Amino acid sequence: MRGRLLRGGAAALALWLAGCDHPQSALSPSGDEAGQLFSLLTLMLWVCGAVYLLVLGFLGWALWRHRRVLSEAEPNAEPDDRGLKVGLIGWTILMTLGLSVLAGASFFVDRSFAARTPADAVQVRVTGHQWWWRIQYRGPDGGWIETANELHLPVDRPAQVTLAAADVIHSFWLPTLSGKIDMIPGRTNRLRITPRKTGWFRGQCAEFCGLQHTQMALDVKVESREAFDAWLAAQAAPAAAPAGEVAARGRQIVETGVCTQCHAVRGTGAAGRAAPDLTHLASRRSLAAGALPNTRGALMGWIGQPQAAKPGAQMPPSELSPQDTLAVATYLEGLK
Ligand code: CUA
Repeated sequence: MRGRLLRGGAAALALWLAGCDHPQSALSPSGDEAGQLFSLLTLMLWVCGAVYLLVLGFLGWALWRHRRVLSEAEPNAEPDDRGLKVGLIGWTILMTLGLSVLAGASFFVDRSFAARTPADAVQVRVTGHQWWWRIQYRGPDGGWIETANELHLPVDRPAQVTLAAADVIHSFWLPTLSGKIDMIPGRTNRLRITPRKTGWFRGQCAEFCGLQHTQMALDVKVESREAFDAWLAAQAAPAAAPAGEVAARGRQIVETGVCTQCHAVRGTGAAGRAAPDLTHLASRRSLAAGALPNTRGALMGWIGQPQAAKPGAQMPPSELSPQDTLAVATYLEGLK
């Protein structure tokens, strides 16, 4: 029986720990800032856990003592509470120490977050929209290179992320990499991220911002410095020319139809600013801020009926025929 219990406990613990190793878990830090927050959390758990056990211990002791005193008490005897006084003084000292440790630790973590970011940090601007992320990188020539919904960061190099909101309050949160900070209309917030592990991670808007708040996710890729530089150079380039007749027809529809009112495809006539930049849409992992995989089926479904996948999204359903939808999807698929 005991062996079975132990085995069950070990299996549950293994499952629980495996659950922490997740691209969106603050319990598997993959960057300096997330690591500091995780250490702070661990310290708080230890201090508060110790206090909790002490409280339970004292409760048990008090109950036991009360019963003993009742059974042994002589009528009219003065209760002996010298031990209680010493205990209370000790307890007060212990609590003051514990709270000071927690306050000190969180003060120093906070201070280190507010420290200046080195001059060679990657400069990124992220703007929260209902319900997607506009992402802009400072290019080598000083201009801004725009993309959306997929953040790339070089490993072992700090990034200075400047955060804003275009409509309502959002909150930028990449649990594995850094802390969480609100994006507030009319205000600019800053966050430093120093990733230490390569791979895909996931971020999520953490402030209720309307109907599709839950489907406001952010794909994050941390890669080597060379891979990041190559990616940024590719993002800076204008859109690829359509390959083939169907794609060319798709480009014409994008440029002259309703798409251009909101979307931009750099290097073409489409220059809308209200929705995600599509110049390199095909290079991204997902569509509609993490709501759909970037496949032809999902893309066509999204163009035809965005409201089916993301009710409330600002993108209206298109009036395109199936052939035209296919042409647009074929064109967008070529925008690597
Ligand atoms: Cu944006 Cu919640």
